Amino acid sequence: MNIEMSFSIKFIFLLIPVVFVFSSCNQSKKNVHPEIAHLTESKPYNAALSFQLLTSNCFACHSPNPEIEVRVAPSMAEIKSSYISKYQQEEAFIQQMTEFLSKPLADKSLMPAAVEQYGIMPKMEFSASDLNQIARYLHRTPLENENWYTDDFPNEKIKYAIDENELGIEQRGLKLAMATKGVLGKNLLKAIQDKGTSGALSFCNTRAIPLTDSMSNEMVAHIKRVSDFNRNPANKANFAESSYIQNGRTLLAAGSKLMPKVIEEEDKYISYYPIMTTELCLQCHGIPEEDIQPDVLETIISLYPTDRAMGFKEGDLRGIWVIEMAKDK
Ligand code: HEC
Ligand code: HEC
Repeated sequence: MNIEMSFSIKFIFLLIPVVFVFSSCNQSKKNVHPEIAHLTESKPYNAALSFQLLTSNCFACHSPNPEIEVRVAPSMAEIKSSYISKYQQEEAFIQQMTEFLSKPLADKSLMPAAVEQYGIMPKMEFSASDLNQIARYLHRTPLENENWYTDDFPNEKIKYAIDENELGIEQRGLKLAMATKGVLGKNLLKAIQDKGTSGALSFCNTRAIPLTDSMSNEMVAHIKRVSDFNRNPANKANFAESSYIQNGRTLLAAGSKLMPKVIEEEDKYISYYPIMTTELCLQCHGIPEEDIQPDVLETIISLYPTDRAMGFKEGDLRGIWVIEMAKDK
């Protein structure tokens, strides 16, 4: 378990060279957290941005490495092949994929066998505009070719990489949060697929914090997930974190954007990034009885007698990533 886990962490880390690329002269179009990306306007096609979105948000589950053993989802090559066989024309390909990803439903799937094998893909919070970018990249890139992973992928990484030092603190922290989210998400899905929701609870119970900690070590930063309505007492937001979260809920209710926040201290930077509730989360964080099955509820209460992390709805602010980076790193 440990070896496999640290392998996948390294693997994913290697696949995430940079999260976002910025058009240096146009600050107002600065990319935001994917969780809140639905607030970004549509942009012209940007291959580098698409590549970064794909590698940092999709490859954790859809690894392009044909040799990976533990699969939680079909490879991106398999997906590309299925889509291109039905939709050769670019706009049709993009439309079909964007529609599915905006609201994954079994009856819209082009890959019913994958839905059968892995369960339906969890919905991700992306704007149609970002999904469009990703789908266009997939259409234009021959990742269904046998040698893409070994021959072309390394070149793409170089071509679309940007200097780590050119990233601001906010973007560096975001990159760490997204990498950790990818690893946690993949492992959560795997646990649900293998053991069901109730069984997956014990994964979260015993593995979530160690996994987050191991990402911290890997990335030379301190990474945690906290909430004002926390399940594990160890994940309780402190006063400053709670203030950001509560203010965030007010902003969301008013229809405003939620921006990450960076706090500068003498020896470190601390940044906050929102964690939104998606449909996948409801089976463990939704409304008891309605979303949470009785056996799951029972397990939650027995593992976390002081649980406060139920009653969430899709689109609610669930908590935040807190990333601490020492200065001069
Ligand atoms: C947490 C794991 C996970 C992540 C992250 C993920 N997917 Fe998926 N995806 C799945 C699973 C499982 C399936 C197979 C079941 C299905 O087809 O719905 C799937 C299927 C798909 C399909 C095929 C849909 C069909 O017609 O059935 C597409 C397209 C897709 N994913 C694109 C993406 C893109 C693009 C991203 C990144 C923005 C992404 N996925 C991120 C788990 C994931
Ligand atoms: C299989 C059940 C399960 C699912 C599904 C699940 N969680 Fe959790 N979640 C847990 C458990 C258990 C904990 C406590 C982990 C621990 O002990 O560190 C937790 C903790 C958290 C925390 C840390 C704060 C706290 O309350 O302790 C956040 C934030 C969180 N989950 C967000 C999410 C989001 C967002 C999703 C959906 C993408 C999700 N969870 C899906 C079971 C689940």
